Amino acid sequence: MSIPHKPAATEAQLHELIANRWSPRSFDVSHKLSDDQIHSLLEAARWSPSSMNAQPWRFLVGLRGDSNFAALVSSLKENNLEWAPNASAIVLVAATGEKVSNIEIFDAGLAVSALITQAQSMGLHTHQMGGFSKSKVKEVFSLPENVEPIVLIGVGKISEPSKLSQALLERELAPRSRKPLTELMLKGLN
Ligand SMILES: Cc1cc2nc3c(=O)[nH]c(=O)nc-3n(C[C@H](O)[C@H](O)[C@H](O)COP(=O)(O)O)c2cc1C
Repeated sequence: MSIPHKPAATEAQLHELIANRWSPRSFDVSHKLSDDQIHSLLEAARWSPSSMNAQPWRFLVGLRGDSNFAALVSSLKENNLEWAPNASAIVLVAATGEKVSNIEIFDAGLAVSALITQAQSMGLHTHQMGGFSKSKVKEVFSLPENVEPIVLIGVGKISEPSKLSQALLERELAPRSRKPLTELMLKGLN
């Protein structure tokens, strides 16, 4: 079975890093990320813009085989357990602030966006997960009160999907879809 290629279905001119990014579930379980690769991903996130340059994002990296990875996997909801443990790394992105508000969460999202685009540019794929227990993550890593887990990002090398269960295989091969732009415009350009 070949590796799916699922570019955005659009006639607009898009940068290939944006058009070709998608979130697979079939990761190569033998692939390892180098220290330099991890560093590049985190640096891309670190250089994101943020409100007042507060940089409220915080990161924690698990590499498949290490104890951080195992602890992050133990926090996953069932729907992510089948595939995410095959990723080369799982990155926890958290936000911090006196009281974590929409702004800190928004800034953390920008950092995620930079990280996943950097990964795409390095020939890697990413898959974000909200399906994990935030309280468990807080507990196992003894995170301070003012650090809120936001999302986990599986990072790795995509692989051909034949080993996925039937349900996940169907999702892996399904075309990507989006609401039409007309539905997204609050005013004008319709
Ligand atoms: C904040 C966030 C949380 C997500 N949580 C999950 C998740 O728990 N499990 C999962 O399989 N996919 C998850 N996804 C992936 C989305 O389902 C996926 O990005 C969306 O369907 C669009 O597909 P694409 O990324 O391939 O374009 C999440 C994505 C985001 C941004």
